Amino acid sequence: MTAGEKNVAGEARRSAASSAAASPLCGEDCLSAGSSRLPGGTGVPALEARGLTLSWDGEHIVVADVTVDVAPGEVCCLVGRSGCGKTTILHALAGLTTPLAGRVLLHGEDVTGRPGRVSYMLQKDLLLPSRRIIDNVCLPLVLAGMGKVDARAKAAPLFERFGLAGCEQKWPSELSGGMRQRAAFLRTYLMGADVTLLDEPFSALDALTRTDVRRWFVDVAAELGLSALVITHDVDEAVSMASRIYVLAGAPAAGEPSHVAGIVTVERVASENFELTDQYLAAKREVMALLG
Ligand SMILES: Nc1ncnc2c1ncn2[C@@H]1O[C@H](COP(=O)(O)OP(=O)(O)OP(=O)(O)O)[C@@H](O)[C@H]1O
Ligand SMILES: [Mg+2]
Repeated sequence: MTAGEKNVAGEARRSAASSAAASPLCGEDCLSAGSSRLPGGTGVPALEARGLTLSWDGEHIVVADVTVDVAPGEVCCLVGRSGCGKTTILHALAGLTTPLAGRVLLHGEDVTGRPGRVSYMLQKDLLLPSRRIIDNVCLPLVLAGMGKVDARAKAAPLFERFGLAGCEQKWPSELSGGMRQRAAFLRTYLMGADVTLLDEPFSALDALTRTDVRRWFVDVAAELGLSALVITHDVDEAVSMASRIYVLAGAPAAGEPSHVAGIVTVERVASENFELTDQYLAAKREVMALLG
């Protein structure tokens, strides 16, 4: 192996730590949007956090007694100001950290502190610049042990649905910001779980692209039957995407652990411009009041 190859491998492993190291082995049907991804209608939440209390050092509490649930096929948002503990919660939900108190349940099964059970995209989940798009998105499959040829064959049919047709052989630098985000999301999808956690997925995009990508995400999540928790500090992002918004308030750096200040239900109406409707503005006002 050359020094360059070693670097690529290291880069891949570092990315794996953020996006795929904990990925489950993808079975034959993991890319097929098959029945296992569809809402079950059992009444059991797809994802449930019960009374999570989290700390990075075991001493300073970042969030206290946080309870969140996402129904099968639902897109929820967790919104809160910078530093209030959103990413800290995502780490616990993904099983990357163990809570001081509380439990994480996936379809009713206790998965507290167990990684590899949900798909997730971390805040700085960038594509590897030295790999073509097809190989970037295949990374979770390859890290899970699938051969490159098989992985590419699995991923290729999804490029069209993710708005990336013709981009397979391109480099990340050749894609627009929106395309890069969709590629990162395709890579997350290929982790193979039906529950997806996204941390500030669209914050780097310009306003118009962000609006388009949000709408696209909501459509594609519904089509694939994904249950998703989107973490954001952007109130508009939350209202435009979620059916329910968990509002997190607090200032852990100042010794005030964050808590869920309220849950806002968004009344979705069919409209070309949902962002201009009374229902949208009412939900936005409610979230802003809870944020204080
Ligand atoms: N790895 C870490 N080790 C120690 N403390 C951390 C670590 N990551 C975050 N923190 C602290 O935990 C608190 C919450 O951070 P977190 O990253 O969860 O906030 P956030 O809501 O995601 O903010 P942002 O919107 O800026 O991403 C902050 O006080 C932060 O300093
Ligand atoms: Mg964060």
